[in-house]
Order: sequence, then C-alpha cells, then structure tokens
Amino acid sequence: MINVFPSIEALSVFAAEKICEIAVAAISKQGNFTIALAGGSTPKTLYQLLASDRYKRDIDWSKTFFFFGDERNVLPDAEESNFRMANENLLQPLQIFGKNIFRWQTEIGRAEKIAENYETKIKEFFGYKDDSAGIVFPRFDLVLLGMGDDGHTASLFPFTTALQETKRIAVANRVEKLITNRLTLTFPVINNSANAFFLVSGESKAEALKEVLQGEVQPDKFPAQSVRLKQGNLCWLIDEKAALFLRRQPL
Ligand code: 6PG
Repeated sequence: MINVFPSIEALSVFAAEKICEIAVAAISKQGNFTIALAGGSTPKTLYQLLASDRYKRDIDWSKTFFFFGDERNVLPDAEESNFRMANENLLQPLQIFGKNIFRWQTEIGRAEKIAENYETKIKEFFGYKDDSAGIVFPRFDLVLLGMGDDGHTASLFPFTTALQETKRIAVANRVEKLITNRLTLTFPVINNSANAFFLVSGESKAEALKEVLQGEVQPDKFPAQSVRLKQGNLCWLIDEKAALFLRRQPL
C-alpha cells in the first residue's frame, strides 16, 4: 500500500494512528508489542507525536519492546546515534528504560562483536530455531524503515555485503562510501515482520523513490526494493515532495 500525504506532519499522524492500532491488537493477542525503530531524521516527528498527550495513553508501553533496525557505529550519546534520537524524542519522554529497550551496544567494541551481541539478545527475546527444518527468524510486530536518497534502507546500502545475507539476524556491514562499518538487521528478519512502514519525506528522495517503486527491479542498486514481507503488511508512507516523480493512479 502506498499513501501520499501533503506533509511530514500528516504522514506522521497517520503512522501514529496505525501504530496504536497494531500495538493494541498485538498486546491483546500475545501480551506484548515488538517494534524495530528506524533511524535518521524522518521518524523524529512521529516519535514526538507518540510521546505527546495525543497518543501516549493509547499504548501500554510497559508491554512494548523497542528494538532498532540499524545503528551507526558510534556511542549511544553521539550526535549521529539512532538510539540517541529515539531516546530524546520517544523513550525518555515516555519514561521508558531498561528491559523494554534493546539497543545495539556499540560501546562493547568492534562492529562484528556488537552485531553478534545484538543478534544473541534478539534470539533470547524471541526464541530461535536453526534446525533441520531451517531457520525460524524473529517476527517483529512492526518494523519502521526510512529510505536514503540512494535507495538504501536500514543500513542496507547499495552493493554492500549485507544485502546477500540469508542466515544472520543482525550484522555489521561495511559501507565504503561512508568509510564506516554500519550495524543492521537483515532482509530475512525485516521480511518476516508482521508489518513494515516506510517513512519517506522530502524532494531529495523523489528520484530514488521513483526507481524503487516504479523502476526496473535492481535490488543491489536500490536495496529498498528487497523489502517484500513474506506474510505481512508493507505500507509506504510518503509526502508529496518525495512522491514528485511517481506516476500516479488516476483518481
Ligand atoms: C540511518 C537509517 C537510514 C535512514 C535513511 C533516511 O541509520 O540513517 O536507518 O536507513 O532511515 O538514511 O534517513 P533520513 O530520515 O534522515 O532521511
């Protein structure tokens, strides 16, 4: 489903409403709600909304467990930390701490070690089987995703090794163009989620978005194309600026 909104504010209100619906249903059905947060700047308005008087009472946060779709290889209080952005705009305002938050522990050392540590925590939380019947990947109730102006999502960047990962849950991913090792959930996990929302805003994303949604299938060049949920609902939430070059269905 692709929804186009007049502004990032309208997009964020729609997303907040849908997240409340998904959370209430998940908690009613299974007693908890698991969400993997997106990084970058686009989700900031949504996070502030969820923590506002308008929505904060709509979800039982004590039964909500926060994960992160990806992280930069920086300390949690660094300016560019995805955890820091979510903590400042969502978690601290809601007074959520400790056992409800599963962040990438970037303070423990090398990127590979951080990824292994995060993968172990996810396996412990969800339970995990890797037996003759194959791998049973964790199933998040909701994964929030952004998209870069190069068509990357999470930290799954064009022509990087992690795009081909089929067994791991969380990996370190070398991103030469950023001269850094990023940390990211893999496509098998993202594609096993019950719901995934892309939040895409701004004219800088318009060209890549046209390629991702309406161009040739080139997933190595436009990794966001590889988000195809096996048994889940994928929603693209886009503002008018990002939708600038999309061919629109006649009303
Ligand atoms: C990150 C994100 C990344 C982000 C996109 C869009 O760590 O940067 O996870 O995938 O969602 O780059 O970023 P903006 O929302 O800042 O445009």
